[in-house]
Amino acid sequence: MYQIYVRSFADAGADGVGDLAGVRSRIAYLQRLGVDAVWLTPFYPSPQRDHGYDVADYFDVEPQYGDLAELDALVAECRSVGIRVLMDIVPNHCSSEHAWFQEALASAPGSASRSRFWFRDGRGADGEVPPNNWSAEFGGSAWTRVTEADGAPGQWYLHTFTPWQPDFDWSNDDVVEHFDRALRFWFDRGVDGFRVDAVQFVGKAPGLPDTEGDAPVSPARNPHLSFVASSHAVWRHWRATVDAYNEAHPARDVFLVAEAYTPRRPDILAAYVAPDEFHQAFSFDLLLSPWNVATLRDAIDAPHRALTAAGTTVTWVLNNHDVQRAVTRYGRLVAHDVSSWTGSPLGYSDSEVDVALGTRRARAAAVMVAALPGSLYVYQGEELGLPEVLDLPDTVRTDPVFLRAGGAEIGRDGCRVPIPWDDDATTACGFATAPATPWLPQPENWSTWSVARQEGDSDSMLALYRATLRRRTELAPHEGPLEWVLTDHAQLLAFARGDVTVVLNPTSDAVTLDASATEAADIMLTSSPGHVDPRVVPADTCVWLRS
Ligand code: BGC
Repeated sequence: MYQIYVRSFADAGADGVGDLAGVRSRIAYLQRLGVDAVWLTPFYPSPQRDHGYDVADYFDVEPQYGDLAELDALVAECRSVGIRVLMDIVPNHCSSEHAWFQEALASAPGSASRSRFWFRDGRGADGEVPPNNWSAEFGGSAWTRVTEADGAPGQWYLHTFTPWQPDFDWSNDDVVEHFDRALRFWFDRGVDGFRVDAVQFVGKAPGLPDTEGDAPVSPARNPHLSFVASSHAVWRHWRATVDAYNEAHPARDVFLVAEAYTPRRPDILAAYVAPDEFHQAFSFDLLLSPWNVATLRDAIDAPHRALTAAGTTVTWVLNNHDVQRAVTRYGRLVAHDVSSWTGSPLGYSDSEVDVALGTRRARAAAVMVAALPGSLYVYQGEELGLPEVLDLPDTVRTDPVFLRAGGAEIGRDGCRVPIPWDDDATTACGFATAPATPWLPQPENWSTWSVARQEGDSDSMLALYRATLRRRTELAPHEGPLEWVLTDHAQLLAFARGDVTVVLNPTSDAVTLDASATEAADIMLTSSPGHVDPRVVPADTCVWLRS
């Protein structure tokens, strides 16, 4: 599965912002890469306060990105070459510009319009204190006070993220019915499924109790806001909707993948992929793991065990639009010991980065993760080995993580810089079809990573991804077991997939394997150019050995 951050993938309109027509113009590239499906980040009408994760209308396309006809054309063309299309859907909150929220603001406290959201009276003599002490994800209180129609300060509304993203109250039937309609609306247009955003925050503890203690608690750690057990009823309902759709349309096989950060809690992850809930749920432990054999093993083994026991497979991911790119994470010169496993998706050290080292490790990680049983999501630019752009000027940063923290947090813009397709500086390295200024500036040397340059280089990251995705199909069935081997080598992580042994050496020294392990073995795939001896695994390398 290939994640397309629409805004930054390809710009057919040459206005500096990626669009659906741009995606359509690059289908041949996706085919050549060897992906089965694409996931498009939100392209709904939106004021873009959180780049589309603030949806103003769930039934249309943001004009900057195209229109419904363009989406239909994209879906049809993808389908004609066997690529399925997933959309993003945001059930926890909408944009404060959504018609329902505007209606709620104009309505009186206690009205039906307000009951689709979480409006509450404040505490204190004049209601000037928020209804509870919850914090919002990108900083500040999770409550914002509104001004009532008569001009007086009024009720407060709840927002897990920014004030421009009011949370829906899922106990309201209108909300349930609205999303049922949205799912079917897009399925009817040929969309094959949804990546479902921030599912862990849908559902709030009854009574909205305060968190304990005086220190602010982030939403992810707020037990009254995150992973509230009763919310699973929502997903069972969605699954029933999806199953009914598939039953009524025998040629279709639509599905749902959940986004929930469940750091080192495979039991919580497993609950989302119960047979009557999501078909997939991202396992983020590997993405969050330091480059360390112990944590890497745990990040693979624990979700694999839990999900296998639950009768399903793991959905692996090394990158997405919310975290620093793997090349940069793995290139950090410190912070790879076990204790640096923070479990926070945005938590990272700001230590020095060695891009060459990070690239070497990211290559090894890609070769390793592709061999694991289960499904795999690749984030655009990962296959080019793009590093995080760390030095964007503050003035161009747009991420609410940065803006809400007053610059104290660097935010996520650095993994969203438009893709370099070729060397033409006037078109933002081929990102745009004509001269354009990209919405985020590309670094001077960005064309070093361009598709055009990598096309002709058999040692490039792109060549490695193409080869890896092709060879991965030889490891089927993807449901296959995962058997740890070569366990005498404490510095290695090795597992067998049928007659293939996958060996990762995440250390800085080459490791010589036992002769018995490599007898009659051939290198099927290696992350290190020039690696030809199956008996020796170079530093920061992953190899597939076939016997
Ligand atoms: C998305 C983020 C977004 C947040 C709020 C997520 O987890 O991936 O990009 O900011 O949800 O919708």
